[in-house]
Amino acid sequence: MKGVILAGGLGTRLFPLTKITNKHLLPVYDRPMIYYPIECLVNAGIDDIMIVTGGRKSGDFLSLLGNGSEFGLKHLNYTYQEGEGGIAEALGLAEHWAGDDSICVVLGDNIIEKNIRRAADDFRKQGKGAKIMLKEVHDPERFGVASLDGDKVTKIVEKPKHPESNLAVIGIYMYDNRVFDIIKTLKPSDRGELEITDVNNWFIEDGSMTYEVLDGWWTDAGTFQSLHKSSCLVADGGANQLD
Ligand code: G1P
Repeated sequence: MKGVILAGGLGTRLFPLTKITNKHLLPVYDRPMIYYPIECLVNAGIDDIMIVTGGRKSGDFLSLLGNGSEFGLKHLNYTYQEGEGGIAEALGLAEHWAGDDSICVVLGDNIIEKNIRRAADDFRKQGKGAKIMLKEVHDPERFGVASLDGDKVTKIVEKPKHPESNLAVIGIYMYDNRVFDIIKTLKPSDRGELEITDVNNWFIEDGSMTYEVLDGWWTDAGTFQSLHKSSCLVADGGANQLD
């Protein structure tokens, strides 16, 4: 399984912090934000990684990360997303590089306390379909929200006004290679983006979506509040713990 980190977008929710740099280069406690999703993938045994970047100062990713030797990597791949076409559009840019492999996608502003090793191993065994990670939150209307029926996800609604559960779909997704064909069929949402939630609902209808509930804390870092909270969480106990 290969890893894709989505680190594009203009980070408008963080203006003026993102006026002259990319959101994923901002500090989260003692490291740039992008370090956390890289470490998350490496901890799951994924060492073939592509970073999809974009916007201003995208060249700074190369200066900062080089070939990823700080993470024990021999090589890092980069590609560039023009504008703000959404998560699914950004993922589509990795198609030619992914080849026939399955992929684990991590949003560049998502940070976890522990690791996804078990989920990644389970998905390797699953072989086909998709897997999402869920986490109970107190503000589900900010996220994609999953409805469950026993051990099945029945649907995901993106930022619902009246959420049916408090289970947020976190920004770590595993897909088989069909994901790239699905992306080509998507239409932009009301916010003008190709939504990853539409991709996930396709796999739910296909009957090949599984889920796991994430152990330990999870946060995004795309708003002032969540950026601050993520620094505090990392300072208090560290992220990407191995056990
Ligand atoms: C995105 C996804 C959403 C998911 C969230 C996790 O939201 O669209 O389904 O729950 O990431 O961080 P966005 O950050 O684009 O608002």
